[in-house]
Order: sequence, then C-alpha cells, then structure tokens
Amino acid sequence: MKALILSGGTGSRLRPLTYTSAKQLIPVANKPILFYAIEALRDAGITDFGIVVGDTAPEVMAAVGDGSRWGIRVTYLRQDVPRGLAHAVHIAEDFMAGEPFVMFLGDNVLKGGVTDFVRRFRETRPDALILLSRVPDPQRFGVAELRDGRVVRLVEKPEVPPSDLALVGVYLFNHRIFEAVRVIKPSWRGELEITDAIQQLVDWGCAVEPHLVEGWWKDTGKPEDVLEANRLLLDTIEPRVEGEVDASELSGRVRIGAGTRVVRSVVRGPVVIGEGCEIEDAYIGPFTSIGDRCRVRGSEVENSVILEGCVIDRVGVRIDGSLLGRGVVLERAPDRPRAISLVLGDQSRARIV
Ligand code: G1P
Repeated sequence: MKALILSGGTGSRLRPLTYTSAKQLIPVANKPILFYAIEALRDAGITDFGIVVGDTAPEVMAAVGDGSRWGIRVTYLRQDVPRGLAHAVHIAEDFMAGEPFVMFLGDNVLKGGVTDFVRRFRETRPDALILLSRVPDPQRFGVAELRDGRVVRLVEKPEVPPSDLALVGVYLFNHRIFEAVRVIKPSWRGELEITDAIQQLVDWGCAVEPHLVEGWWKDTGKPEDVLEANRLLLDTIEPRVEGEVDASELSGRVRIGAGTRVVRSVVRGPVVIGEGCEIEDAYIGPFTSIGDRCRVRGSEVENSVILEGCVIDRVGVRIDGSLLGRGVVLERAPDRPRAISLVLGDQSRARIV
C-alpha cells in the first residue's frame, strides 16, 4: 500500500499567510500541519509516499525532503494547475502502479491516526473506504448519505445536506478510482471532485464502505480552524522544559524549547514555546503556540498561534485568538497621538479595541 498526500492548492482562505507559505506548512503546536499527516501514515506502516505539489512545490520539498527523516521514501508529483482532488489522483496513477493507496489531504489533521482505517481496508478489501465525521456545518464539505450502513449518495458542498456526515479528507482506494476520475466532469467550481469520482464508483456498483471516525478531525482551511487545530493538538503535548525559567509561574502542560528564556512571567498551559525565544514580564495563556526566536515582552497572549521571529512588545491589551505570520512586530505606540498605526499585508485582518 502507498500513500498520496495532497499538498498543492492556493490556500486563499488563509491569506495573507499563504502569500508566503504553503497552507500545509502552517505550524500548529509548532509543527507543520503536513507533518502530522506524514507521521499518521508512517505509523500505519506505509513507507512509499507520493506528494502532489503545486505552486508552493519548492517550499514543501525543502520542508519534507526525501522523507528519510521519517524513514519513508517521497516522490513529488507536480500538479501545474489546481484542477481538483480527483485530478491529483489522476496525476498519481503511474506512481501507484496498481497498488491500493491512502489519500490524505495535507491540510487535514486527524486525532487517532489512520492505522485502524488501513487495517480495516486490508481485511475487507473494498474498492473504496471513506472516512466520515459528524459535523454541525455539512454544507462546507462533501456529504455522504448512508442507508443500512452502505454509502448510497455523495454530494460536494450541498446547499441542503442529506446528512451531517462530512467526508473527512482521508480516503482509501484501489485501482478502480483511476477509471472513475477519467469519466467525471468538472463541478460548478470548475474542479474534478473526488466526491464525484466516489459517487461514480457507487453508480458502478463498486464496494464503497463508510468508516465513522472517532475523536476529532479538523480541516484547517480557515484561520479559525488553524486555531482550533492548535487547541486540540496542544491538549496532547508532553510537558518539557529545555530553556531557562527563573521564578516565573508555570502551570499545566508547557513545553519550552532550548535557548529560550522565561523571565518574571506567567505561563499557563497547554502552551508550546519554541527555541531561542525571550519571554519577559509576560503572560502566556492556554492554547498558545509561539514559534522559534520570538520576543514577548510586557504583553499578554493566549489562544493564539505566533509564528517564528515575531516581536510582541508592551502591547497594552491581551492578544487573543490571533494568528501571526513570521516576523510580525506588534509594539506599543507612543502615548501621543493616541492612535494605532498598521502595516498590514493584502487581506490581513485586525480587530481593534
Ligand atoms: C475537500 C473535499 C470535501 C471534503 C474536504 C475535507 O474540500 O472536496 O469533500 O469534505 O476536503 O477537508 P475542499 O477543502 O477542497 O473545499
């Protein structure tokens, strides 16, 4: 069995971060989202990986390399235009060479991994095994309708969802999917939908089995989703302090990287702070991830994802529910005139009190 990870796409809903970074490389709990997918598939015993890449190929390739770090072998498959998930499958046909495979959308995180799912596929040998999860907002996803435990219909982003069972971005297929992606037509959004290809398998009478995921699953398409994935993943971290901490107050699960100094501060976990940071006279509250080489001084931050190299200096209000890209500087303005002054990239968002 092989793995197919999709790591292309434009990440339009995560701008401006995705102007300079692949959405799959945005870190949650200080680790790129994509690495969680690689590790889940590796833990399920898969060693042969195809990664579909688009415009952000150089960056994804630099981050993942040849996969030897995880004991896997990675082949990059180039998708010139993002023409949909089914198109990505089409590109991968030669690489799969007739073997069954797990397809994993590189911006999805799934607690509990895929080991059970892979085992079940190996035992029951259907043509497709699809993961489903109950969601409150099915119209945002592909939705499955089941009858007597069998998949009878799949619809992509339906206005009136036939159920609350969303298609999780993890699928298991045998070679029949390649026949299906060849016959489907582009959807209203101009993409070859994997959902339509699976519907095609159902129409042909192929065995398409559902597998309901237990535990949480997150598609990190929007900033709120990244923050939520961060909260969910931070809840599972092992505490470890490698940096220097003075008499500061640390509580809950806290991880502090090497070369980081925490001075006169309060850190309430779950929190991850990277390497080489300076945290001084600060409050770092629950569900915060701070990347390497950040400086937080005289400020309060919680429930946020702060990427590497940021400076947060004497900001007078608590920073909450925020996602800051690399090297962002937030600092206190002079007392007169009483004003805020911003340099924001295209499609940035700021909420000001
Ligand atoms: C894609 C699939 C959708 C699935 C979702 C899971 O949506 O088309 O069926 O439910 O991933 O993350 P997209 O992220 O392309 O909008």
